[in-house]
Amino acid sequence: MGNNKKVGVLGLGRMGAALAGALLGAGHDVVVWNRSPLKAGPLLDRGARLAAMPAEAAEADVVLSCLSTYDTQQPVLDELTPSVLVNLTSGTPEQARGVAKWASSRGIDYVDGVIMAVPQGIGTPGARILYGGSPTAFAAQRDVLEVLGEPVFLGEDAGLAALYDLALLGIMWSTMSGYLHALALVGTEGVAPERFTPMALSWLSAVGGFLPGIGAQVASGEYTTDVSALDINAAGLKLLVETSRERGISTAVPAPLAELFGRAAAAGHGAHAIASVIEEIR
Ligand SMILES: NC(=O)c1ccc[n+]([C@@H]2O[C@H](COP(=O)([O-])OP(=O)(O)OC[C@H]3O[C@@H](n4cnc5c(N)ncnc54)[C@H](OP(=O)(O)O)[C@@H]3O)[C@@H](O)[C@H]2O)c1
Repeated sequence: MGNNKKVGVLGLGRMGAALAGALLGAGHDVVVWNRSPLKAGPLLDRGARLAAMPAEAAEADVVLSCLSTYDTQQPVLDELTPSVLVNLTSGTPEQARGVAKWASSRGIDYVDGVIMAVPQGIGTPGARILYGGSPTAFAAQRDVLEVLGEPVFLGEDAGLAALYDLALLGIMWSTMSGYLHALALVGTEGVAPERFTPMALSWLSAVGGFLPGIGAQVASGEYTTDVSALDINAAGLKLLVETSRERGISTAVPAPLAELFGRAAAAGHGAHAIASVIEEIR
């Protein structure tokens, strides 16, 4: 392959190892560094080179960093000055902007990314990675980033990807918690997950269909509805809390929602659509 690049990968945890593996699979020249060098073994067998120090892995066209947290990452970054840094460690928007500032002070072209996939999905069509930061660095390294998953550039603000990440994960965590609560609830009557899950899946796809309408109402601030008023939903949530309590299972998942919907209704949104709850959240 003619246009292979030299790519440094810092961090060989579950995700870092998957990133390095995909890059090797695409024929790139990969140099890896990890605090525990033994983890590099399988990658070295596939042709990666091991850097003894982080700075050695930074002598590359682009460096990807994927460590557990920003706090563990910064001392590692302080040891290097790569030309292009793509930071794939999860953090807050402010943390990402902090590293962008640090990079700019050292003349490093900086791109911040968040991985919307599990390690096993890296390099497969379902993987998507969101980026923000330097548009020129993103464009120049797009060929490398495409190997990992569909690259989506959000804008020049290096904090945007982390913001999207947390927003999307929030949807995932609340959906999964709702599903687990549902399994516990139907489980009180002996309904097994495999019997209930197909119903949950088709319901979830119907619920997903409501999102564009809810989003449009939030955008316009116009909450009239002829579908389902907040009052009815707040009452339904109360029933869910009561039934959970009667069955002796925790109300930790639905109770805060019942409280939130009840507060929005009491604030005058009872006849409005569910979208009006955003006024209370804000
Ligand atoms: N796994 C996922 O599904 C997933 C999905 C999206 C995003 N991410 C993000 O990817 C990042 C890495 O996740 P992961 O699943 O690969 O985690 P992991 O398997 O726990 O690996 C953590 C990595 O951080 C390194 N590390 C931890 N503390 C360190 C320190 N004090 N100094 C130097 N290195 C240190 C570890 O080195 P050692 O090997 O020496 O311990 C290892 O390379 C996280 O920010 C995570 O949120 C993960």
